[in-house]
Amino acid sequence: MRFYIKTFGCQMNVCDSEWIKYALKLRGWEEASESEADVILINTCSVREKPEHKVYSELGRFRSLWEKRPSLIVGVGGCVAQQVGEKLWEKFPFVRLIFGTDGVASVPDALNKLILNPDLRISLLDFLDFYPEREKIWSKVSLPPVFYVNIMQGCNNFCAYCIVPFTRGPQKSRKSKEIIDECKQLADRGVKEVTLLGQNVNSYGKDKHGDGVGFVKLLEEINKISGIKRIRFTTSHPKDLGDDLIEAFGRLEKLCPAIHLPVQSGSNEILKKMNRRYTREEYLKKVEKLKKIRPDIVITTDIIVGFPQESDKDFEDTLRLVKEVEFDSSFSFKYSDRPGTKAALMDGKIEEEKKLERLLCLQQLQDRLTLKSLERLKNKEVEVLVEGPSKKGENAWQGREPGGRIVNFLSSKDLRGKLVRVKITEVKKHSLFGEVI
Ligand code: 5AD
Ligand code: SF4
Repeated sequence: MRFYIKTFGCQMNVCDSEWIKYALKLRGWEEASESEADVILINTCSVREKPEHKVYSELGRFRSLWEKRPSLIVGVGGCVAQQVGEKLWEKFPFVRLIFGTDGVASVPDALNKLILNPDLRISLLDFLDFYPEREKIWSKVSLPPVFYVNIMQGCNNFCAYCIVPFTRGPQKSRKSKEIIDECKQLADRGVKEVTLLGQNVNSYGKDKHGDGVGFVKLLEEINKISGIKRIRFTTSHPKDLGDDLIEAFGRLEKLCPAIHLPVQSGSNEILKKMNRRYTREEYLKKVEKLKKIRPDIVITTDIIVGFPQESDKDFEDTLRLVKEVEFDSSFSFKYSDRPGTKAALMDGKIEEEKKLERLLCLQQLQDRLTLKSLERLKNKEVEVLVEGPSKKGENAWQGREPGGRIVNFLSSKDLRGKLVRVKITEVKKHSLFGEVI
């Protein structure tokens, strides 16, 4: 059997798709292009309106492929699947598998059933009251040097704009032993860098599924695994970022100096309406502590512009905060209503044009800051973990420096998986170029 997986959205989706990919390969399946595949899976995102629309246009395309090849099996997973559920079948009756995040572990078996029973349709949408461990397949497949490790699922925060608590369910921490064992297995298979994934990693272990190990303790344990050279994590919620984790940045030598800390807004009024449960002052204080303990730390963020009732003054507060923190990079989004969220019911919605104006203004500021941050690396030597060939030409390779920024360089040798010293010689708008030394 040949399969094709299309993934939208966050790293958690990427991680889920990767597991499905390896699990299918282990069963003798082969990856193929969309036009040659017997099975097409689409892992979806509904965090904002735009990615959700993309899913529907992709499904329209897959419908035409299926009309030409009725044996094609199409499956839809991720947040749109969870949100829309079996109603998806009304609009897209050719879809034969619908799965949410807790259903990922059962996807390979479900596909086998669908192949054997051409009249069958399967939905795997139930939220389970435990973290569904997946078949351990890493010892049997060849792996890249950098890898994601899921440490929890779901979120309990209910930020007013966010659909995630509805599509991914309540927070469920994975058992620490499972995580540590997986990291050890990955290290044995040549993985050098792990990124621990969760919607809110700072509250890892603080739910009824926790086993007494908190996030910092988990980092300490992974820090002890000799094959693992680098540890990253995402995402942190500013309200739960404690001094213990800040201090860990100064203490754990494998913890990369990089943190994604979504601020969402620089206005206290808007933060309150968003139900973020921190103030701009508290956020700035945490940033100051991080920079004190790791002056080279790379801080990135997410920002929403045009949240309901956001005034010009609120938006200026956001601009001021961005200037003060000097984020190394940021993702910014125009607010969009998500079904079932509190914000969708708020009045004072901002016009599209105003949102766009604010977005462009913020992005211009960020572009200047990003360039400034990259320029600080010019002529510096950095350690790069080589991930694979780069698209920047023949013999070009790429990897990341500890802060997480991509570095391109030339080498006639295959350096994949190696840690090399690179001198940064050129800084472009969003990329770095260097020479191996
Ligand atoms: N509108 C716009 N952006 C949103 N995000 C989440 N929900 C919305 C929404 N309704 C953004 C937040 C979050 C990122 C993943 O997506 O900035 O951190
Ligand atoms: Fe959404 Fe807030 Fe949970 Fe992040 S912390 S997933 S923004 S509800």
